[in-house]
Amino acid sequence: MQKLREWGYKLFNLVARLPGGARLLGWTPLRTLRNRVYLSYVRGMPDRVYMNETIIPALLESGFSRVLSVGCAEYTQEVPGRFEARGIECWTADISPEEAQWGHPERHLVCDAAGLAEQLPASDFDAILFSGVMGYGVNAEHMPPIMEGFHRLLRPGGLLVAGWNVGLAVDPLTLECVTGHFEHAPALSMPARKEVESSTHVFDLFLRRDG
Ligand SMILES: C[S@@+](CC[C@H](N)C(=O)[O-])C[C@H]1O[C@@H](n2cnc3c(N)ncnc32)[C@H](O)[C@@H]1O
Repeated sequence: MQKLREWGYKLFNLVARLPGGARLLGWTPLRTLRNRVYLSYVRGMPDRVYMNETIIPALLESGFSRVLSVGCAEYTQEVPGRFEARGIECWTADISPEEAQWGHPERHLVCDAAGLAEQLPASDFDAILFSGVMGYGVNAEHMPPIMEGFHRLLRPGGLLVAGWNVGLAVDPLTLECVTGHFEHAPALSMPARKEVESSTHVFDLFLRRDG
């Protein structure tokens, strides 16, 4: 089934590149179909399955009251609603104004992850989701102010979920700015590190160190 979704997604990309293709795909029924195919393809990817069926449910059951999700995309649009349906306040953020449409309708910040601690109250968050941002604009040299800011935003013991791709981003365990502020540890019945099968995606869990 996932192969079929992948072929459907590739077919739409091919059509988009043909002369007049973009205009054709602007036709509402085709655009709707393309969006459905795209979303079901991405949501069928093993890393999204782990995020949607393991990480988010664990956070929903955690008793946490406030989470921050950094990095938005069409396929993350349901994330704020899932938290808020369970009474967990969710904030979203992305550096790109274009992605604001996929964030929380009121609690979204168009902001560099490195600047979030200046916009939000300190020690206020139980968890921060930071997946698919390293390697997609954030490189190793950008990480020190981001990690310092996340350390300020999380309550002591708060959870940082860092998702990244082998070959695209540097292993966060090799960065002093990460290990100095956070302890790599299992949490909420999830392992400290999950290497997703059939994927280059890795999820690392970190607990905010005191001080
Ligand atoms: C692959 S996308 C979506 C990631 C999504 N959280 C996920 O789970 O796959 C990466 C997003 O990170 C955003 N991004 C890149 N650098 C950023 C930064 N310094 N601060 C905040 N967002 C950033 C991009 O604008 C983009 O929308």
